[in-house]
Amino acid sequence: MERTLVIIKPDGVRRGLIGEIISRYEKKGLKISNIRMIHADEEILKKHYAEHQGKSFYKDLLDFMMSGRIVVMVVEGKNVVETVRKINGKTNPLEAEMGSIRGDFANFVTENIVHGSDSAESAEREISIWF
Ligand code: RTP
Ligand code: MG
Repeated sequence: MERTLVIIKPDGVRRGLIGEIISRYEKKGLKISNIRMIHADEEILKKHYAEHQGKSFYKDLLDFMMSGRIVVMVVEGKNVVETVRKINGKTNPLEAEMGSIRGDFANFVTENIVHGSDSAESAEREISIWF
């Protein structure tokens, strides 16, 4: 079964949206197969966001991701990578469709509530970092 890595970012946790977010994946028929809540440190985030190192938003992104606890989970299902990214919505909340998590709950591009892996290969790489 295909797997993906989802992170509920510090803004999602602070705003009490954990249940709402997990429920959207579950209602779509996806399964949560592993889950943990942590306060991430810089070392693990550098691994996770290696592809963005050097970009203009990199430092803000890491600072934000260290600003509170996060929920990290493995989600399983058919075409789960694509399905989760559709449920999450576009990266920029202004472009994210209403009805998606980012469209409904986010206002800023950095603080956009959730992360979902962008391919099956990224998912396996990211799962091995967090679990
Ligand atoms: P994610 O990895 O969080 O699922 O989001 P994504 O694939 O849609 O976006 P990606 O390009 O991988 O960017 C990772 C995260 O970096 C922040 N970001 N800020 N200020 C900016 O222009 C900017 N661009 C990206 C967002 O938090 C994004 O989710
Ligand atoms: Mg990404």
